Amino acid sequence: MTKYVAAIDQGTTSTRCMVFDHSGRVVSVDQKEHEQIFPQAGWVEHDANEIWTNARQVAAGALAKADLTTADIAAVGITNQRETALVWDRTTGQPVYNAIVWQDTRTDKICQELAALGGGQERYRDKTGLPLATYFSGPKVRWILDNVEGARAKAEAGDLLFGNMDTWVLWNMTGGVNGGVHVTDPTNASRTLLMDLDTLSWDEGIAADMGIPVSMLPEIKSSSEEYGKVRERGALAGVPISGILGDQQAATFGQACLSPGEAKNTYGTGNFVLLNTGTDKVMSENGLLTTVCYKIGTQAPVYALEGSIAVTGSLVQWLRDNLGMIGSAAEIEQHARTVEDNGGAYFVPAFSGLFAPYWRSDARGAIVGLTRFVNKGHLARAVLEATAFQTREVIDAMDADSGVPLKSLKVDGGMVVNELLMQFQADILGVPVIRPVVNETTALGAAYAAGLAVGFWASEDDIRQNWAQDKQWDPAMDDETRARTYAQWKKAVTRTFDWVE
Ligand code: G3P
Repeated sequence: MTKYVAAIDQGTTSTRCMVFDHSGRVVSVDQKEHEQIFPQAGWVEHDANEIWTNARQVAAGALAKADLTTADIAAVGITNQRETALVWDRTTGQPVYNAIVWQDTRTDKICQELAALGGGQERYRDKTGLPLATYFSGPKVRWILDNVEGARAKAEAGDLLFGNMDTWVLWNMTGGVNGGVHVTDPTNASRTLLMDLDTLSWDEGIAADMGIPVSMLPEIKSSSEEYGKVRERGALAGVPISGILGDQQAATFGQACLSPGEAKNTYGTGNFVLLNTGTDKVMSENGLLTTVCYKIGTQAPVYALEGSIAVTGSLVQWLRDNLGMIGSAAEIEQHARTVEDNGGAYFVPAFSGLFAPYWRSDARGAIVGLTRFVNKGHLARAVLEATAFQTREVIDAMDADSGVPLKSLKVDGGMVVNELLMQFQADILGVPVIRPVVNETTALGAAYAAGLAVGFWASEDDIRQNWAQDKQWDPAMDDETRARTYAQWKKAVTRTFDWVE
């Protein structure tokens, strides 16, 4: 009897494999970081071969660490950084260019040109749920076809394949050039700007506008069904791969936000708030995205409203790696605790422009409110507060779109170990913030999708039962302070606009 389900989480900064038991507890984990490639300002790339190598290594590592064999694993799920776009040659298996990461803004001009053809930035909103923005995959694929020599001709001849990182990992796991399966799921496809949200199929008109041959797009299957078996020798050989969810949707699933009105916020490289809206597709009038939350087998798709924030945890990394201001991410809290408040300083990390609710690719980062009084502690605080303020902005948009104010917020991700941030988040939202026992909700969600498909878990009720609360933070800030500091933040945001021509 197999006792576990595995998940491969191909994230923005690292790739992990986690093994879970039937109660949803972590049995084993292995993780490897990959290089962040910044060829020029605004560009962010990943080496897809490095990522695939890491995926294989962490799968083997996770099994070895808990002394497990392939026979112990019932199924494997895949979850991934969304939007990051890769084009590869179907006969050689080699990428024609590095993966262009979701944070990359090089497609700004392409987006402007597409908007100018009529309908502006919102022209694809009705069909895809998304504004035209550099964040999404379609324009990135267009850039590769326009800029890599010979790529367009090869794509038109049917020799090139497109995929997000889920598809790249799945294709390789299922055999690569020897019969690899070229498939994605609707949560990932809904981030390309190419998928019709109603039919869950590629929109040929939009693909034609973007100059992307439909033949290079993966088949869209559900988020929970068997796509194939692992063809690799070694770790996981022969195990069914039966779940795919984009990482934020996976976290929503892993947090058991399975009913309309339930929401979670993941604090990763960026922050992503997703509100389950059930089988209703709610169109945002306040700068949020409408996206597929999950589609389990033949069941109707469940949709979500999403507030995507590009830079939160990566701001702490930037402080560590680019400025050397801290030695480790954990140090930020120690510095922040040396002061009472931000000393008047606000840090707006518009490194990739601003995502929700603004969608301004012309914005760039700014620190405002500086005086001689401001010290390292104040700046550390401003860095942490930026995450909480940005979250407040997308929650306000969500309240306005849904008409129902959020009563509490489930949180997960790397930054939720930061107690100061969690308290400030509750303070600035004015509602409780709740952390689950299993904080690894992204990998867990993908494991649930995979395990449901093979009968390891019987139904979504198992997921609800497995969820347990670890800690809750209640708001402790007075209304006047909350209103004043948030107003200052809003003012700071406007200082980042119109920076890029
Ligand atoms: O949309 C981007 C998101 O999927 C990336 O998530 O956790 O890798 O920063 P993460």
